[in-house]
Amino acid sequence: MNVDRSSQLYERAKSLVAGGISSQIRVNEPAPVPLFFDRAEGSRMWDADGNEYIDYIQGMGPNLFGHAPEFINRQVEEDMRKGYVYAAQFERELEVAELALGMIPMPDARVRFASSGTEIDQLVIRLMRGYTGRPKYLKFEGHYHGWMDSVNYSIHPPLDAAGDAASPNVVSESQGMDPGTADGVVVCEWNDVEALERAFEQHPNEIAGVIMEPILANTNCIMPKPGYMEAVKKICAENGALLCFDEVITGFRVAAGGAQEYLGVIPDLATYAKSMAGGFPVAMLAGRSEIMEILGNGTVYHGGSFNSNVMTMAAAYASLKHIADAGPAFYTELNGRGLHLMDGLRQAAVESESNLHVQGVGSVFSISFTTKPEIVNWRDHARNCDDALYARFARAMMERGVRLSSNGRIHMSSAHTDEDVQQTVEAARQALPTL
Ligand SMILES: Cc1ncc(COP(=O)(O)O)c(C=O)c1O
Repeated sequence: MNVDRSSQLYERAKSLVAGGISSQIRVNEPAPVPLFFDRAEGSRMWDADGNEYIDYIQGMGPNLFGHAPEFINRQVEEDMRKGYVYAAQFERELEVAELALGMIPMPDARVRFASSGTEIDQLVIRLMRGYTGRPKYLKFEGHYHGWMDSVNYSIHPPLDAAGDAASPNVVSESQGMDPGTADGVVVCEWNDVEALERAFEQHPNEIAGVIMEPILANTNCIMPKPGYMEAVKKICAENGALLCFDEVITGFRVAAGGAQEYLGVIPDLATYAKSMAGGFPVAMLAGRSEIMEILGNGTVYHGGSFNSNVMTMAAAYASLKHIADAGPAFYTELNGRGLHLMDGLRQAAVESESNLHVQGVGSVFSISFTTKPEIVNWRDHARNCDDALYARFARAMMERGVRLSSNGRIHMSSAHTDEDVQQTVEAARQALPTL
């Protein structure tokens, strides 16, 4: 694979941009160097050396309709002729809220907009504390809620630092974080009802709320065990704590109503970003109106110059309208094509006697290498998945024109075709025996 031009640009980038990249995960692109891209359209991308890829990173999830769909381009162009940032209300914002609330099953909800998943997760944690008057929130190992100090704990902690599973350590993921923030976090193992009950017993009346990825997209795309979500909801209610689903990945991706609809469990609060605006930087918090009241009256403060700007609201409107107009067929096709790809990869693995493993739902799923039939939480992944082998697979796929993410997560878009799926499975058939 020729990456001469990307290599030259990367050398130039290193003297201009810290590490040559603007987000840490990009350094791990499964290519000889972090690639530079010239163009992207639909399911495809072209790098600076002219190599073409079927792209399954899709912006790490936002590009639900593939790259640069015309219906979003048109709406954004039209709306932006009327200005960019008003720092005021406008009707489009209400149309987006109406469309979103029409899809999310949560009854009697209100929303607030922001620009990124990280930001909106900060807001929800502040709101949970503000509403309950309690000092801590609970997160689970393997779950990602952005890179801020308050949440950058125990995402993928090394097992030798993670401590006893019965009472996990709060493991920082970066140097330089405010050490005080660790006191506000309780870490728990996911997919284990007793672990959550124990955490509440260990911290009586201290936990304001529980935040989780309802489908654990940031670790192996793990599904909750049957009954787990219902149990979590009950335990939270019994202990006076709020429940928040971080739907930054699952929202508007796994179903119009996100994981809430897919799993049939409705939390008190939910955060959205990525897929909501088809690739534009928007985020949204939705919550029961009585909780959102203290946000509405300023008791819990939230600001942001770029919240609900013309560009992102135009993109969110076009995206949600597209989904609403398409009806349930949109998700049947999106998830269906993903399931088809999962099956094809499983078949390719059987043919080459590989332990390639896929799990998740069609529109978002994960590839890993393990002999276990199912991975159930972060520690299970850390113990049983061969990440180095996955990295070699991703490189071999890239050499065959398929761009996979460094963390194994596959994002399907409505622009992916049956032909893309066939080509990807064929690439896997060729790649697996070379590993
Ligand atoms: C579940 C989840 N929450 C929050 C975030 C943070 O979102 P952003 O990258 O927009 O800040 C991410 C990003 O990948 C995510 O996957």
